[in-house]
Amino acid sequence: MLLNLQGADRPLHRRIYDALKSAMRAGQLGPGTRLPSTRTLAADLNVSRNTVSLAYEQLVAEGYVVAHVRSMMAVAHSAPVRALPPAARPKISARPLLSAYGRRLTADPAMPPAGSYASRPGLRYDFRYGRPVIDEFPREIWRRLIAARARHGALDTFGYGPPAGYGPLREALAGYLWRARGMSCDAERIVIVNGSQQAFDLVARVLLDPGDKIVIEEPHYQGSRLVFEAAGARPIGVTVDAEGLDTTRLPPAAARIRLASVTPCHQFPTGVIMPLGRRLALLDWASRAKAWVVEDDYVSEFRYEGRPIEALQALDRSGRVIYIGTFSKTLFPALRLAYLVLPPALVRPVVAAKWMADRYTAMLGQEALTDFITTGRFERYLRRASTRNAARRRALIEALKLHLGDRVEIAGENAGVHLLVWLNDIRSRDIGSIIARAAGVGVGVYSIHPYYSRPPRRAGLIFGYASLTEAEIRAGIRRFAQII
Ligand SMILES: Cc1ncc(COP(=O)(O)O)c(C=O)c1O
Repeated sequence: MLLNLQGADRPLHRRIYDALKSAMRAGQLGPGTRLPSTRTLAADLNVSRNTVSLAYEQLVAEGYVVAHVRSMMAVAHSAPVRALPPAARPKISARPLLSAYGRRLTADPAMPPAGSYASRPGLRYDFRYGRPVIDEFPREIWRRLIAARARHGALDTFGYGPPAGYGPLREALAGYLWRARGMSCDAERIVIVNGSQQAFDLVARVLLDPGDKIVIEEPHYQGSRLVFEAAGARPIGVTVDAEGLDTTRLPPAAARIRLASVTPCHQFPTGVIMPLGRRLALLDWASRAKAWVVEDDYVSEFRYEGRPIEALQALDRSGRVIYIGTFSKTLFPALRLAYLVLPPALVRPVVAAKWMADRYTAMLGQEALTDFITTGRFERYLRRASTRNAARRRALIEALKLHLGDRVEIAGENAGVHLLVWLNDIRSRDIGSIIARAAGVGVGVYSIHPYYSRPPRRAGLIFGYASLTEAEIRAGIRRFAQII
């Protein structure tokens, strides 16, 4: 403990006594706070233990301090405490001079999108998008895997890890991607990152300069658009129709587009799946335009009918696709684990950018995840989670049809963890009051507007269903129907 001992003309024990008393009065040592042992404080102040004991004894006698078990001392609850004086006003300007990047980041008053993730009190049925089916997750197995790695981990678990990610996890992922997504890639091309969000950021850092033109879907996932815009890129929205991004509307190959950011396996937020013809057209355009294609494959594991859709990356013959996969939907977002599969020429710059950003992704989670995958548990869990998600999706569709009939139109294929629902007889500008009234009866629903550059004329809502039980989904939709 650091004490400011004043008054060199007085005995040391008195100066210690005064310093402790004023710290209590100023509220720095609040009621109940433990004081250091006489041995520790004596060592900190470089005085004898006797001197400290004398100061403590005086404070005990005056009721400022009480002796606890094993003669530990603590500030008495009755000690007179004054509130801390208000903190001195910082002298720095409230509007610091930011870099161009810093200015772009803060130009939008909604940045950072804080608070939108925590549970909102009072929402009994919250259809917020982005929550996983956590009730099926084998927490006990996960706890054991983490504990085993923490107990028996080699030096690397506790030291600095490789910037591209834990080697055995990259190997395990290469195998998984081949089995599940039809992708043939070696582990050398896989880089482990902290969520897709970091993947977008690293891609932007190594590929984009201010003013560069990029293609985004309209509507689109704002998570990636915001990153590209912060890098100074100029997004060009290309309309999404019932087959995903409309490739006939892509800018001409000569337009010097740097990259196109797409969600072909389950377009976000409409949920449509891009058919083979369009995929080939997109790859052909990329190769002619010398543009990169960022494939955000955030939820393809959950397809409830038919076979899983092959990744765009698996069709890429000219090395233009940058594939991004995440565990945020299959396991849980708090894990912050995602990965890039890169064209060989981009591995070195992206790994260097990763090292610059944060050296490497935390090892313990990577190691436990490796064990989860290599023991077959991940894929077994995916099947269970998929069955659960399918049942919840069915419950949502049935409840919407039962209570709202043809007042709603449900968009999207039989996949993913959310539904887009158009409200046929509600005006777009009334959606805010519908959302507020739904919240008033404990139902959380969310507008589709933030995903559009220009808000659509129709009113639409996005319903996440993975984290609600079927009974909750039915009850939530019944209540929602009552208020509209
Ligand atoms: C389209 C899309 N991409 C990616 C992600 C995942 O982001 P992250 O891996 O950073 O959690 C999400 C999550 O909501 C998403 O909707």
